[in-house]
Amino acid sequence: MTLLQSTDLFMRFGGVTAIGGVSFSMSEGTVHCLVGPNGAGKSTFFKMVTGQLSPSSGIVSFRGRNITGLRSSEIVNLGIGIKTQTPQLFDDVSVEENIWLGARRLAQGDPRARVRQLLSDLELTSIKSRLVGTLPHGLRQRTEIAAVLASDPKLILLDEPAAGMSDSDVEQIAELILRLKPSHSFLVVEHDMRFIRRIADTVTVFHQGRIFMEGSCDRVLSDSGVKDIYLGKGLTGNA
Ligand SMILES: Nc1ncnc2c1ncn2[C@@H]1O[C@H](COP(=O)(O)OP(=O)(O)OP(=O)(O)O)[C@@H](O)[C@H]1O
Ligand SMILES: [Mg+2]
Repeated sequence: MTLLQSTDLFMRFGGVTAIGGVSFSMSEGTVHCLVGPNGAGKSTFFKMVTGQLSPSSGIVSFRGRNITGLRSSEIVNLGIGIKTQTPQLFDDVSVEENIWLGARRLAQGDPRARVRQLLSDLELTSIKSRLVGTLPHGLRQRTEIAAVLASDPKLILLDEPAAGMSDSDVEQIAELILRLKPSHSFLVVEHDMRFIRRIADTVTVFHQGRIFMEGSCDRVLSDSGVKDIYLGKGLTGNA
């Protein structure tokens, strides 16, 4: 079943066309990765899905419902969570309280139990009282992912979750994503090819604001055209 769909989506900033006609769809219960060189439009696309930006034209729908132009808070309540490229946690609040702020939005179930479960799943229990501002990068990223998962979104958007993380932290995030699938669906922007190979069911390549190619991980990552557009532009890991 189609979970998320965009139809002929455009986003223009003055003279810059950041997204130039993207028709995209992803299925429920899958991990779908979005790749593409810097400036390809990946984060802009995310922002239109979550209501942080209102598209210049086109439609975004989630579970068959048109969500174009809805406010971010409405979209969160419909079940889309996002970890953005920029930090969203409160530095002077503990790990546990940051996750709690997400869990308060839970539509059903016990928020306290949810926080406990996430602390345990992401191996954060031993540091739950630490202030987020004092954490090293990997722990901070993990806390941020836990905070997004706390409200139990159906679709989780992760913008570069592996950036700047150690190999063991990256592996832990990959395991968590695979464990949560298929009851959750993930749309993940990432440059780290090892991570993508580990988690992706489908890969879509963005280039200059459009979809350049889409398909299975193996087919897309071994494509010579995809390698060309990435050349010298931050593709990491062994493709
Ligand atoms: N608020 C804005 N105003 C003007 N131009 C913007 C704005 N946001 C994004 N852009 C432009 O839109 C294009 C796409 O940017 P975007 O951040 O979506 O790329 P990206 O694929 O996420 O890149 P990266 O891999 O570096 O994160 C870029 O040319 C960028 O400069
Ligand atoms: Mg980006």
